[in-house]
Order: sequence, then structure tokens, then C-alpha cells
Amino acid sequence: MLIRSAPDLKYSDVTSKKDFLDRRRFLASAAAGVALGGPAAQAAKLEARKSGYTVAETVTPLKAITGYNNYYEFGTNKDDPARNAGEFRTEPWQVSVEGHCAKPAKYDLDSLRKLAPLEERIYRLRCVEAWSMVVPWIGFSLSEVLKRSEPTSKAKYVAFETYYDSKQMPLAKGSRIPLPYKEGLRLDEAMHPLTLLTFGLYGEVLPNQNGAPVRMIIPWKYGFKSIKSIVKISFVEKEPPFTWGIMIPNEYGFYSNVNPEVDHPRWSQGSERRIGEFSKRKTLMFNGYADQVASLYAGMDLKKHY
Ligand code: MTE
Repeated sequence: MLIRSAPDLKYSDVTSKKDFLDRRRFLASAAAGVALGGPAAQAAKLEARKSGYTVAETVTPLKAITGYNNYYEFGTNKDDPARNAGEFRTEPWQVSVEGHCAKPAKYDLDSLRKLAPLEERIYRLRCVEAWSMVVPWIGFSLSEVLKRSEPTSKAKYVAFETYYDSKQMPLAKGSRIPLPYKEGLRLDEAMHPLTLLTFGLYGEVLPNQNGAPVRMIIPWKYGFKSIKSIVKISFVEKEPPFTWGIMIPNEYGFYSNVNPEVDHPRWSQGSERRIGEFSKRKTLMFNGYADQVASLYAGMDLKKHY
């Protein structure tokens, strides 16, 4: 079998022909305003260069990536966000960068997107409920934004917050999670080049159900760390509270690194099912990114700091 370096791969190389054609059809119907409805129907192309930060694995079909989601603001079933997020208004949009830094900033979406060249990176996303996907995300390292604000020595962590509007998200209350959704990373995790500020997937702007207009992807951590629809990024001194830790602290630790050796109290983390595949596969430490990120946790007991 011919093996090529990942940046040279095209979707048609890593996706079955049927999935590739399905994607073409999906995009055509989305462009015609049929599949997505509302603002997402104007899904625009995002030009992005290929990045070396990419896994050469079969990409999950677009239909699965956009039809099987966790986004509690739009309902708690996996098919709810695709059904309910279509009318969510993602324009105008502002993201503030604040807290312990010399240069706090407020960006509209366009100026945020232009801070660095967009890259396509094919990353795994592994959710705590044991399903996973391989997604061609488009974005750039969050560090491009953080470094411009010049964090001070007091900045030890970075806290993130999602937009919340009960009028646009009437189902959110029923989810019973505290909102707005919050997440956090240690500063060195947030500055790691793999940590992606994400604007699109599959060559298009993010569909609303996947966190439009801007979200995080931290590929070595369980999916819930990858917060959607971000409006606030703050440099803070102490470990910030995060939604699932507030909700169920004995089940969700701050680090949430993918670790097949630490079971979730209610299920094993040893294996996962890639969406669209029948059999399960073994889950890899740090979701397969150990070479790049294990050094961040040198000396830490990862069973205690789960
Ligand atoms: N961000 C917000 N604002 N609200 C959410 O409910 N769910 C998280 C994460 N980000 C969530 C969120 C969880 S549990 C997962 S697994 C991933 O988003 C799912 O991302 P996806 O729907 O793009 O696959």
C-alpha cells in the first residue's frame, strides 16, 4: 500500500468513496439551504493550508460529525443539536481576552480569524461516553491569540466561557447543567501547539451544532473540554471551575486527559467505538497524542489527577 505523509492526503484518499460522495451531496444541499436551515445554511468555505498536526486515519463522515453531538444548550439527545441549533445567531460575535494580561483585547469574529493563517488539522475527538470521531478541523493554535495579550506571571490557568441566551436556547434549562458552559486549561496546556482554536470543519465554517462560530479542540482530552461557541477567554490565577466538575465532581476531573487506565465511575475508558464503525477499538493514552503532550504531566499521578 502506498503511504503518503499526512499533509498530502485528501479526503477522497482517507474517506470511502461513498462517504466522500455523501459529503459532496451534503455540501451541495447545505449551500442550497436545504440541509442545515437558518444561518448555518450560508456555510461559507474556509481556505486553510494543510498542517503537519494531522493523523492519517479514515475521516468520519460529515453526516456523523454534524448529526451526533453533545451541545446541552440545544438539548441533551445526540440528535437534538442538529435539529435545534440551526437558527442560533452567530453574527455579530465578540470574543474577549481578559484577566491577568498586559493587553486585554476584544475581537470580532473576522479579526480573530485573521490573527493567524488557518490550517486544516485532522484530529481525533474522543468523548467520555466512549465514542470517537476523526475530524478535519480548521483553525490555528490558541497560543496565537493568547501570546498577543501578554499573560502576566499571575496567569496560571486559562478559563473559557460559552455564549448563553435562554431565548435562543430554550432547551438549555432542561439540561440541568449550570450555564454558561465553562471550561479551563492550565496555561501550558492552553499554549501547547496542538490546542486548537477552531472555526470550521470539512472545509466549511463550523455548523452551529459543532460550536459555531468558534470553539476549542484539545485532542488529547475528553471531548467535554472542547468548549463550543466561546465568548470569553480569561487568564486566571487559580484552577477555574468547569461545568462538568461543578455538576458531578466525583466523575469529572479538571485534567480529563484521555486515560484508558482510569475508569469513569460508571463505565470503562479502555475502549471506544468510532462512529460509523461496528467494532470497538482500544483507547490510547492521551488519545494517541502521548509523544506530543505526555511531558506536560511529568511527575503527576494521572490516576489522582484524572
Ligand atoms: N460546549 C458547550 N458549550 N456545551 C456543551 O454541551 N459539550 C461538550 C463539548 N463542548 C458541550 C460543549 C461535549 S460533552 C463534547 S463530547 C463535545 O463538545 C462534542 O463536540 P461535537 O458535538 O462537535 O462532537
